[in-house]
Amino acid sequence: MDFLAAYDAIPDDDVPQRVGLLRKAMVAEKASLFAQLRAERPVFSTPVGVFVTRHPDVLEVLSAPETFTVGVFGPALEDVLGAPFVLARDNADLHWRERGYGQLILGPEDAPRVRELTASIADSLLDEALARGTDTFDLIQDYSRLAAARISVAYLGFTGIDEDTLHNCTRRMQWAFAVNPDRNPEIHAAGVAAGRELHDRVAEVITGRRAASGDGPDDVLGRMLRTRLPAEYGFDDERVNANLVGYLTGSQQNITQCVATAVKELTVRPEVLAEAERAAGNGDPALFDSYVWEALRFHPFVPVTPRLCVRDHTLAAGTERQTVIPAKSVVLACFASAMFDGQVVDAPAEFRPGRPPAHNLVLGYGAHDCLGKYSASVIVPELVRRVLLRPGVRPLPGGERAMDYAGTPFPQHYPVSSGRPAGNAT
Ligand code: HEM
Repeated sequence: MDFLAAYDAIPDDDVPQRVGLLRKAMVAEKASLFAQLRAERPVFSTPVGVFVTRHPDVLEVLSAPETFTVGVFGPALEDVLGAPFVLARDNADLHWRERGYGQLILGPEDAPRVRELTASIADSLLDEALARGTDTFDLIQDYSRLAAARISVAYLGFTGIDEDTLHNCTRRMQWAFAVNPDRNPEIHAAGVAAGRELHDRVAEVITGRRAASGDGPDDVLGRMLRTRLPAEYGFDDERVNANLVGYLTGSQQNITQCVATAVKELTVRPEVLAEAERAAGNGDPALFDSYVWEALRFHPFVPVTPRLCVRDHTLAAGTERQTVIPAKSVVLACFASAMFDGQVVDAPAEFRPGRPPAHNLVLGYGAHDCLGKYSASVIVPELVRRVLLRPGVRPLPGGERAMDYAGTPFPQHYPVSSGRPAGNAT
């Protein structure tokens, strides 16, 4: 469909129709919409915001946090968390320090043990699913969401909090701050209530740990509770609580979805799947991981991130597409488009593991790029690898794309065959 012709045919002042068409295209034909925008209208001003679709322009927006702030979703995120948080603030306003704190707490040295933990949680969940003896199981409900939650219990420190609470609360929270463009008050209220519920559960965990003697568990919460910062920084137990819940909110739905979409993107390309299966068993995690990150380029968890332009800015200055973005505009930095910009990314439609890091924006870019990237970069690939090591556990033939969102913004069901009985992992 020629999206721009259809869009331009709608009168300027018929905002609901234009927005309706745009939203439909974003759901049903995002890739072709972005391809057309990159070619014909790379900086596209609409009633819902200015779509920025070329790779250098997305990087320009995300490299200027003083001009393009997180003000679009920051206030909703802080309502949901009930406290300041790194992804809700900008450099001059607390982000700098929160970011430093997160880097201290979520360090790269955790990656090897998080990979081991992930592998063992993954294997036991797959064993449980296969032991049921059914022909199929649900890769999301029976595997990836439970794995993400169990990793958060053991690594982040949500001790004693059940998987359903961790998963369902973060789903409501993320829906409220990240996928509620019309500010639906019910969705917002549900997110705030979920944030409160998690806050109260974590407060009990913190009280218990403060009352116990010794250093406590060696997890992220334990590290936060042992960290002493000057009082004027304000990192009391309430801020520890909000940060921990914030980290969970940044990881639970993301991991759950990425595992399913990476399996999908590999499976719809049988030759790539065969290569990935070989890499899964060859003991070279870096090679295997590169298949998973390339798969996610085709279906990123965050396809678009919004920013609030707080002062007039000339984007792509000196190029043909130079555009003045006026203050108060919402700017939509389209990761999913930038990663397919053929003027930067070589043969973007081809599946090529090991592309240059700057061509893969799945974990974000710039001032707010993913603080959990060291753990995310082992958790997601290892969860996918453990699936591929079970030869019979694959999406159903013909159902490789059959991911069911069940009326929510995140995929809920993805049936896979059970294949061989339990105990075949290597
Ligand atoms: C599948 C895994 C993950 C994906 C795909 C992912 C993706 C992202 C993306 C795209 C951003 C940038 C958002 C923006 O610019 O608007 C981001 C930021 C962030 N992520 Fe992740 N993430 C993942 C896992 C994690 C994990 C495991 C944690 C924590 C343990 C985490 C914590 C955060 C935080 C705190 C930020 C905000 C950083 C800042 O504002 O400076 N993420 N993530």
